[in-house]
Amino acid sequence: MKSLREAPGPKATQLFSMLRALSRNRLRFFEGLWRDYGEVVRIPLANKQLILISNPEHLEYVLRKNYLNYRKAALFNKERIYALGGSLLTTEGPHWLKQRKLAQPAFKKDALAQLVDDMVAVTVRDLEGWAPHLDGAPFDVAEDLTAIAINVASKTLFGVDMRPATAKVREAVGVIVRGGAERMSSVFRLPVAIPTPRHQRIKRALKTLDEVVYGVIRERRAEEQRDGDAPERDVLTRLLRAQDPETGASMSDTELRDEVATFLIAGHESTAASLAWTTWLLGTHPEAEARVRAELAEVLGGEAPTVETLPRLDYTRRVVMESLRLYPPSWLFDRESIEADTLGDYAVPPRTVFCVVPWIQHRDPTWWPDPERFDPDRFLPEAIKARPTFSYATFGGGPRRCIGDEFAIMEMVIVIALMLQRYRLSVVAEHPVELLPSIALRPLHGVQVTLARAEP
Ligand code: HEM
Repeated sequence: MKSLREAPGPKATQLFSMLRALSRNRLRFFEGLWRDYGEVVRIPLANKQLILISNPEHLEYVLRKNYLNYRKAALFNKERIYALGGSLLTTEGPHWLKQRKLAQPAFKKDALAQLVDDMVAVTVRDLEGWAPHLDGAPFDVAEDLTAIAINVASKTLFGVDMRPATAKVREAVGVIVRGGAERMSSVFRLPVAIPTPRHQRIKRALKTLDEVVYGVIRERRAEEQRDGDAPERDVLTRLLRAQDPETGASMSDTELRDEVATFLIAGHESTAASLAWTTWLLGTHPEAEARVRAELAEVLGGEAPTVETLPRLDYTRRVVMESLRLYPPSWLFDRESIEADTLGDYAVPPRTVFCVVPWIQHRDPTWWPDPERFDPDRFLPEAIKARPTFSYATFGGGPRRCIGDEFAIMEMVIVIALMLQRYRLSVVAEHPVELLPSIALRPLHGVQVTLARAEP
């Protein structure tokens, strides 16, 4: 059995060039290491050591088979906890399990089916607001798609209309995730208590987020008191009504704040990024866009998607899955071993930090021939069956797999369908599209498009 210290990777003496490569382009940094050293790479960064894994069997082992021995890595999780507190995304053990069990029923198939009409209504209303762009100057559609994602998440998860605060939320979350991502990827971090300009900005943004989140909680608590027997309509109702089986206590405002802030950010940030990439991919692959339009015409015939018609938008769903492969919003996630373990040929000491980079996972030609090519048919059922499950890591895997995976896919199919039914978007070819691996992988300068009415 080999020690992970013997795993291939750059030498500690190359720290300076590694740090430069990391700050220049985080994605290419990890991709380069994978290409140079293979499926297990040891990355010595100052006093820290990361192990990059990309073999689907290794992912399956850490995330699913022996998941009880792996928690979120403290190195990264402390930054998430700073912004989100103790929530479904950031906690471990019994607390995590309790919250997962509480939230899970709101994401079951039949519960999601009840959200279709709200998703459609919010999206149609927001898309109508794009009309002033018709036949006008180019604009950044990524911003407008982010607003749709915030409004859809707020309506369907918390039952509130976020519109008066959408711009405020978008701005505050932008500062929080950018700041968090910068801190997570810096090797030397100052404590957040030191009032640097960046830390001050993050604190102000968190205050704004808190105002919005506590407002949502107040509004819904008041409704619950008035109308406590109303049917359970969303995940926030479940959280508000939950009682500790031993003490009978409900969740405190702080506990609720952490869950609501988590659902608000996790529930829109990745989806928004992926909607932008999907719009750009369709704009630059006219044959795929034509197939989507043909499917929309055939299945929907000009009507909005419904619970009945949505599952028949097969090709549009494949477009979404392929977009999520090429540009996985969660481009990196992490785990840390608790007890000593073995992984393949390697002995794993306690507190080993593993990094999973779906960006790499999805560019392995073993499972994805000609990986840079945009080909939605990679997600035909036979093709999916022919690959190991963990060759696709967009939503993670195992018990901590994304709780909102089907919610996100459903929302994306709905938004793309309604957007293309109304508009024809032309991507501005001269506008550079670069990668910004922040918390979600976003197009750095947005996606500039011009807008025309779609032919009926
Ligand atoms: C395209 C959109 C999305 C992507 C790519 C994505 C990706 C992920 C990934 C990779 C994880 C697992 C992280 C890990 O194992 O460390 C995760 C967890 C999570 N996601 Fe998503 N997500 C998306 C949308 C959503 C939506 C719409 C919601 C809520 C409605 C959501 C809520 C969560 C939560 C609460 C967790 C933590 C689950 C747990 O630990 O039990 N996500 N997501």
